[in-house]
Amino acid sequence: MTAIRGTIGVNKRPGELGAHSLDLFRMAVPDLTTAETFYRAFGLEVREEGNGLGIYTFGNPHRWVGLTEGPKKALQGFSFGVFEEDFAPMKRHVEAQGIRLLDPPRGIDSDGFWFADNNGLMVEVKIAAKTSLDGKALFGGLDPSVAANTAGSWSRTKKPQIRPTRFAHLLFFTPSVADSIAFYSRALGLRLSDRTGDIIAFMHGIHGCDHHMIAFVASDGKPAGLHHCSWDVGSINGIGLAAQQMRDAGFTKGWGLGRHVLGSNYFHYMQDPWGSWSEFSADIDYIALDHDWAAKDHPEEDGIYVWGPELPEDFIHNYEAG
Ligand SMILES: [Fe+2]
Repeated sequence: MTAIRGTIGVNKRPGELGAHSLDLFRMAVPDLTTAETFYRAFGLEVREEGNGLGIYTFGNPHRWVGLTEGPKKALQGFSFGVFEEDFAPMKRHVEAQGIRLLDPPRGIDSDGFWFADNNGLMVEVKIAAKTSLDGKALFGGLDPSVAANTAGSWSRTKKPQIRPTRFAHLLFFTPSVADSIAFYSRALGLRLSDRTGDIIAFMHGIHGCDHHMIAFVASDGKPAGLHHCSWDVGSINGIGLAAQQMRDAGFTKGWGLGRHVLGSNYFHYMQDPWGSWSEFSADIDYIALDHDWAAKDHPEEDGIYVWGPELPEDFIHNYEAG
């Protein structure tokens, strides 16, 4: 589903500046071997790279996550992709906002430019292929209804292995949801999709994008931290099978199956070994490049889900806050 950057008016909103994709996120974890086991069970390809790990979806050369080893789990930052012709204007725009450009973190080769966000997370802006979708992803082949006289399901031993097709979005803890909305609008041209007061907010890119590429949730402490990364599996059956795949591999704590209100996606979250979550997702709302989505402030009861099991007690706990 990866699109090549390209033609104005086809997969680019003309005349406006903004990042088109969340290209990658970086995180430190206390134990790379444990991380490798978790993300492999999740259906992702994990490669050893330098001192860390790169995480990929099978069949796609795009690197979605960079993991390094550190004393504790710590979200470090993000790379956002821009179209080639927008790179220099975007750099001028960021500097004109009074945001100071910084050197890349030690050990990272980069042709992009870097700055710190309002939470102290390092942001890279670079020229990259557009990995956000160019249209709504419709349900895939695992959700058909079969004809009469045919068995529709799989046996336990013959059920398909699920491999997510792409990294979809990331939600992180912030001491201030309002400040984060303001920063990411101002610096990267992202737009607010929906919010619930100062508790949670979702933002999309202007060049055609899921309902959210990045989102913020109020932290119960400082600093910022990863809440969850989300991976598209394309169907409800895919979500159910993937969650079973994790339980079969010994990762039993999750939350799902359910459906969100804001973004509308079906979900099942699995807790990672450090208390944050990885989401299997399908059928998220899509905002086309020529559509101005009317952002709303929703009541608190709609902030998390429309249906699903009871929330785990620590679902919204920032383990990086200590
Ligand atoms: Fe999500």
